[in-house]
Amino acid sequence: MSAATILVADDDRAIRTVLTQALARLGHEVRTTGNAATLWRWVADGQGDLVITDVVMPDENGLDLIPRIKKLRPELRVIVMSAQNTLITAVKAAERGAFEYLPKPFDLKELVSVVERALNANTPPVAMPGEMAEGEEQLPLIGRSPAMQEIYRVLARLMGTDLTVMITGESGTGKELVARALHDYGKRRNGAFVAINMAAIPRELIESELFGHEKGAFTGATNRSTGRFEQAQGGTLFLDEIGDMPLDAQTRLLRVLQEGEYTTVGGRTSIKTDVRIIAATHRDLRTLIRQGLFREDLFYRLCVVPIRLPPLRERTEDIPLLVRHFLNLGISQGLPAKSIDQAAMDRLKRYRWPGNVRELENLVRRLAALYSQEVIGLDVIEAELADATPAAQPVEEPQGEGLSSAVERHLKDYFAAHKDGMPSNGLYDRVLREIERPLISLSLSATRGNQIKAAQLLGLNRNTLRKKIRDLDIQVMRGIK
Ligand SMILES: Nc1ncnc2c1ncn2[C@@H]1O[C@H](COP(=O)(O)OP(=O)(O)OP(=O)(O)O)[C@@H](O)[C@H]1O
Ligand SMILES: [Mg+2]
Repeated sequence: MSAATILVADDDRAIRTVLTQALARLGHEVRTTGNAATLWRWVADGQGDLVITDVVMPDENGLDLIPRIKKLRPELRVIVMSAQNTLITAVKAAERGAFEYLPKPFDLKELVSVVERALNANTPPVAMPGEMAEGEEQLPLIGRSPAMQEIYRVLARLMGTDLTVMITGESGTGKELVARALHDYGKRRNGAFVAINMAAIPRELIESELFGHEKGAFTGATNRSTGRFEQAQGGTLFLDEIGDMPLDAQTRLLRVLQEGEYTTVGGRTSIKTDVRIIAATHRDLRTLIRQGLFREDLFYRLCVVPIRLPPLRERTEDIPLLVRHFLNLGISQGLPAKSIDQAAMDRLKRYRWPGNVRELENLVRRLAALYSQEVIGLDVIEAELADATPAAQPVEEPQGEGLSSAVERHLKDYFAAHKDGMPSNGLYDRVLREIERPLISLSLSATRGNQIKAAQLLGLNRNTLRKKIRDLDIQVMRGIK
């Protein structure tokens, strides 16, 4: 890439300085201004090879300038940056023909790479909403109902952005599928998609899972371990079941999102984050906020673009398409071909589907695998629905469950959450800490903070107990029970 002249308009002097330094280092000539009028004059004079503009400037809105620039000099690319990182700004920027949209604060590295792409005339611009118009066919999401069309429209507009997305919807509505689609068709598709399920990871392990830990950060941390933030560097981090995140981890996450950098557990140097965040939950976060279980400030951080996936019962017209889709999937996996008659289909449309698409998918699989008839009729459907286990209902915790089976259940979920992958190393000690902490703090409160009595109760040496209290960072409240 040869040296270019870059025109920068932003009323924030600090940003002008930072951009000038970064771009000059690449050998470009940078001209900066704090208002839109000067930028427009330069463009009209035929100056500059690239424009970088803010949205809100004292004299004119940068977005309003784009159509005029495009009309006069269609080849001139415009990068928009804005602190108003809402869906509307991103959509407007894309619609008006901006080459790229960068929500502030942005990573300089990212800006530089966008500038390079913009200056490299052979690179076609990233997909714009118009080009995604028939994206429905490409997306791995089935359904043509108005509710889904609306979802597709939003997704299409998000493809060219890195905006943080919050996906809500009942269990089985396709939240994870949507998160993957956002990644697979978005600008980070060449990076990793890393998912972490907050509900399946013991609370004490979440920070180490997210941010990694250093060798020796805690007992049993025998090796350095990378966290999900690091694994997702350059890609997408999917924070699944965010409503189940413990409050202290929420605080940490918020800080990381605000500062754009983090340190590993036990680490000192801060690492810059370069991840696109997508969060999902089946819970009602507003209720959790009212109950004091979810941080409101984190909610607003994550909810830049909210997407609510409709329950299946609100888009029953999609059921025939979904049934055909899942039957075809079955065939490709070696199950026999089948069809469903009209009466049976009507019955499926009347059912409430508490487990949503997942429940329908499981039902269709059973139909394909267990029944010999080629055409499935109403009787089969009635029988299947009669003993349908409400797949979506959260499994009740067994009453009177023993400690060992509770731990086992927890760990099974934990391993299951890693799917094909493995938890980070040092699991043994992390899990033991999980058990030690409540054991010791409950013993301490039973003895009203008396460490000598607690040591006796536990059958531990007093010094050992003191060391554990320190290592595990347990608060000792004397006299409080
Ligand atoms: N629109 C859709 N088209 C095709 N398949 C779908 C669609 N929506 C969901 N599915 C399928 O339904 C199943 C459940 O979807 P997914 O895991 O994304 O749901 P979820 O909302 O994340 O559920 P949970 O809250 O239980 O985690 C998956 O097998 C997915 O492929
Ligand atoms: Mg899910």
